Amino acid sequence: DKGNHRHFMQKEIYEQPVVVAQTLSSYLRTLEARVALPDMEFDLGSVERVAIVACGTASYVGAIGKYWIEQLARVPVEVDVASEFRYREPVLGPNTLGLVISQSGETADTLAALRHMKACGVTTAGIINVPTSSMAREVDLLLPTHAGPEIGVASTKAFTCQLAVMAALSANLARAKGRLEAAEEARLVRHLTEVPAAMNAALSHDAEIEGMAHTIAGARDVLYLGRGPDYPLALEGALKLKEISYIHAEGYAAGEMKHGPIALIDESVPVIVIAPSGPLFEKTVSNMQEVQARGGKVVLISDAEGLAQAGEGALATIEMPKVHPLIAPLVYAVPVQLLAYHVAVAKGTDVDQPRNLAKSVTVE
Ligand code: F6R
Repeated sequence: DKGNHRHFMQKEIYEQPVVVAQTLSSYLRTLEARVALPDMEFDLGSVERVAIVACGTASYVGAIGKYWIEQLARVPVEVDVASEFRYREPVLGPNTLGLVISQSGETADTLAALRHMKACGVTTAGIINVPTSSMAREVDLLLPTHAGPEIGVASTKAFTCQLAVMAALSANLARAKGRLEAAEEARLVRHLTEVPAAMNAALSHDAEIEGMAHTIAGARDVLYLGRGPDYPLALEGALKLKEISYIHAEGYAAGEMKHGPIALIDESVPVIVIAPSGPLFEKTVSNMQEVQARGGKVVLISDAEGLAQAGEGALATIEMPKVHPLIAPLVYAVPVQLLAYHVAVAKGTDVDQPRNLAKSVTVE
């Protein structure tokens, strides 16, 4: 049931503050200001390496997790798309935690990668939305997302709930490795607790985003730029736009622009810049200005501070609430999803059932 929404995708975007809060509530003990994981039969503190495997949108959660786990826990992380991992003879040393991420829990390549890791004797965990799925049954440690059924083919609420679990896992691992002091853990818990309200604030810009969608809908190519944990979000933005609006889109690390892709820029190319204020902001803005100098039409997504500093000259701006840069991808996902959604609606595509795509990819 779509309720009063026109599409399941729109409904699921709007459900995010509630389902992310639900997911967080099972991983945060807010009264004690601690993060928590379900009981497990292995020692998280013994993990010396994390190998993350997933497909599509779920793989971008893994890529964001790499920034979080390495920064907080100082444990090296590698991220692979499952179709590559399976066939590249990955080196899986002892004390590796194999982590799969999947909404359906049935994606053929991810399931095969999980079985391969288990066959190699690797301890596995899974961030999974469907609790009765094959992956949920086969992982050593199930880390459920509580997104509820996701009907729209383009993943939205599953993505942000996966991120919520990933944040909790990163913090737990950091604590188990003796890298997270109680005060820092309390701060992280507070930042995470603020996410649902921040998502609501992000949703309040829906009409504005709808207004700019018509301009984007006329473009042939769209670029998304981000740095740090917002780089994988740029990849996710491009994927979301491609799959439901059929507009060609690419995500890049902002610093990579001058190594090739800036050649694409002219007045016809909208560039979506994801840049919360924080330590990486200045660098991203200088990449953005290089784009503007070549006529690129920038849509800057930032907070009030960032927009005051760099919003001038943009085609459009979208103001996000101020959030800690580490958890920004959870909140900035909302405008990125809304933009793809409204562009697709403006183009008249079948938003919930895009051509050539299936919700669950159970063949290779
Ligand atoms: C994109 C999308 C896909 C899935 C991918 C993995 O919006 O939904 O890229 O993320 O097919 O699916 P799951 O998470 O079910 O393994």
